[in-house]
Amino acid sequence: MEPEASRVVCIGGAAVDRKYRALDPVRPGTSNPVTSERSFGGVARNVAENIARLGAQVSLVTILGDDENGRAVLEDLRRLHIDAGHVAILGEHATAEYIAVLQPDGDLAFGLADMAIFDSLTPALLREALADLSSAWIFADCNMPSETLHELIRLARRQPTMLALDAVSTPKVMRLPRDLAGVGVLFLNRDEAQAFLGHPSPSPEAAAEELLARGAQRVVLTLGAEGLVAADRSGPVRIGAVEAQVADATGAGDALIAATLVAMLNGRSLAEAARLGTAAAALTVESTASVRPDLSLPLLETALSRRAHRSFEREPG
Ligand SMILES: Nc1ncnc2c1ncn2[C@@H]1O[C@H](COP(=O)(O)OP(=O)(O)OP(=O)(O)O)[C@@H](O)[C@H]1O
Ligand SMILES: [Mg+2]
Repeated sequence: MEPEASRVVCIGGAAVDRKYRALDPVRPGTSNPVTSERSFGGVARNVAENIARLGAQVSLVTILGDDENGRAVLEDLRRLHIDAGHVAILGEHATAEYIAVLQPDGDLAFGLADMAIFDSLTPALLREALADLSSAWIFADCNMPSETLHELIRLARRQPTMLALDAVSTPKVMRLPRDLAGVGVLFLNRDEAQAFLGHPSPSPEAAAEELLARGAQRVVLTLGAEGLVAADRSGPVRIGAVEAQVADATGAGDALIAATLVAMLNGRSLAEAARLGTAAAALTVESTASVRPDLSLPLLETALSRRAHRSFEREPG
């Protein structure tokens, strides 16, 4: 089968997120009145939703439980026109769920994560999904077991597939092989880079160069409100964040990844694409939703030009 040039296959986590906000300071050992909200999460799912909203074709490969939450995730994928033909349904585990209990002021009182189902994203399941799906691009998060990630990278080394990865967290980045050959773009933050490399780096640029030396073709090392470093064979480039009024930082990294990948699919260079990514991330931190329901390419371009305009105004002389 000819790979479908404009389709991205996203592989990894899909979860139901529940936020409970206490009306009074949380007291343990008793019933606390709350207001509640449900949304959908998981890095691969969020990236897939952002990609769909930016107008590209996308499939999600993940694993859900045979339960209410799983059916809700599936129904939402259909609504978003995300291909869910390779979503596995597993009877023996609950759909991944993240519960945040917040104090009245929004601070996290405690979080509960039931992510055991992701251990069942096996290399066999991966091979089965990829045998049917033809895409030039794959995005995967490090929510899946190490052996599945290793298998994916081995497959990418043998095929002309562009493989993008997100580290997800400092423990999960350790699931990647030491040798990153086969990785087309690695997205990670400063802490994840330090965990993977095993030592602090003198600068994010130096960390990015070291990751390239480990075999990654491109690296996007994010620095929160300071922006990011994008590095490929032509060297590292520092890109500032787009100014934003933070409402909720959740989902910034996922939006950044999606917009960067869509821009690269549309032929932009890594640095140009990552610049568009910072606009998507800024729009996302300004929204309480982890994926903005109004995200679109025109909205991104407008956000970027606003920033360009502002920095132009600030230039001396
Ligand atoms: N306060 C902010 N203002 C503007 N942009 C931001 C802000 N925080 C993050 N961003 C943007 O989001 C990108 C990714 O953020 P960050 O480095 O925090 O990722 P992360 O630690 O992986 O977080 P996540 O939990 O979203 O995965 C940054 O490169 C930046 O462009
Ligand atoms: Mg992240």
